[in-house]
Amino acid sequence: MKILIVGGGGREHALAWRLKQSSRVTEIVVAPGNPGISTLARCENVAADDVAALVALARLERPNLVIVGPEAPLVAGLADKLRQIDIPVFGPSARAAMLEGSKGFSKDFMARYGIPTARYRRFTAEQSADAKAYLETFDGPPYVLKADGLAAGKGVVIVESVAEAHAEIDAMLGGKFGAASASIVIEEFMRGEEASFFALCDGETAVALAGAQDHKRVGEGDTGPNTGGMGAYSPAPILDAAMQQRVMDEIVTPTVAGMMKDGRPYRGVLFVGLMIDANGPRVVEYNVRFGDPECQVIMARLKDDPLPQLLACATGGLAGCKRLERFSDPAVAVVMAGAGYPGEPKKGGVIGGLEEAGKVEGVTVFHAGTARQGDDIVANGGRVLNVTATGPTLQDAVTRAYQAVDLIDWPDGFCRRDIAWRALRR
Ligand code: AMP
Ligand code: GLY
Repeated sequence: MKILIVGGGGREHALAWRLKQSSRVTEIVVAPGNPGISTLARCENVAADDVAALVALARLERPNLVIVGPEAPLVAGLADKLRQIDIPVFGPSARAAMLEGSKGFSKDFMARYGIPTARYRRFTAEQSADAKAYLETFDGPPYVLKADGLAAGKGVVIVESVAEAHAEIDAMLGGKFGAASASIVIEEFMRGEEASFFALCDGETAVALAGAQDHKRVGEGDTGPNTGGMGAYSPAPILDAAMQQRVMDEIVTPTVAGMMKDGRPYRGVLFVGLMIDANGPRVVEYNVRFGDPECQVIMARLKDDPLPQLLACATGGLAGCKRLERFSDPAVAVVMAGAGYPGEPKKGGVIGGLEEAGKVEGVTVFHAGTARQGDDIVANGGRVLNVTATGPTLQDAVTRAYQAVDLIDWPDGFCRRDIAWRALRR
């Protein structure tokens, strides 16, 4: 089978790496890919958000399955256009991708179907006075303000005072995130432990895939500004079998049933961001794609070839698929980022030692933001490398990952040294 993967980060490198091991896969094409991916697949220079060009590429390549990594092309309707030309696609339609594409849509959806989440209200620019008054219904700060639409991961703002909340409401409704914040959601601040849960869906059926936890803040001890994720590990101890069952019963199954009922059948991977406390799990947000770097640790742990399931998500019949076996070994991914990230990262520095790092037992180095310059690999993004390791215990995996990090020669790079601290402390 021929597979086309859309995207060019560490998530897509991990997907290509895992599918390359499938006996059913004969060819992998990635658009646009990256230098790491190019060692195991053919990369085509088509941007991951250029829907028209991706459709043209798919027409030309006629893959048996397209796997879409990032959310933007899904929200923009890539899956719909591919289905129109009879190309199976792993990823939701634009109408189903609204679970991530519009916070207001997803909150209203959860309210309609009784899916546990934070109390909220939606406001448009004309309602800024109402938005400010709504703050008074909470016990006090922190206040959670969300741009309705996609804002490159920056649309959630959590503030510590009423004054800041007022300023942020004015800024957002005044166009801080352009059209994405023409309307906003204000919601209750939830306390508890965050975790990520992934389920595969074919529109009708949902099956649990894995749990994971990531580290969103740039600094050690989970401090400093938010990032796309500085590291991840799987399994997440808080998502034990009983908790996973609750997440399936209380959140994932009703979500898939509700979307079907609303005429928006959900196909692909459903990534539920959770807040878990003594009362159980609640939804922080839905994402309509794999997490990055959560995907890297999930792929590293899959014992079975995931292709039959991924294909069933696209074409139906997931209920009849064999359950995916996982390796018992935990996995961790440490993100190496360019100095300055999540602000403007330093780019262009040569990265050495990649081969040595990849030879450490259990380690795979996925490329997230690299470029090739002559014979060199150079930094070309914020998050640049995902040093991923498995081991008999989580501590072993962590030790191996940092052993590999220490073999990488890249003076401009940095990483957090405490990835998985929450799980190791238990
Ligand atoms: P996002 O940028 O949408 O990935 O999420 C931003 C982060 O904000 C989440 O991972 C949570 O840590 C936090 N967050 C979002 N909504 C809430 C909430 N209602 N209560 C507490 N934390 C939240
Ligand atoms: N690592 C979080 C995300 O992919 O949204």
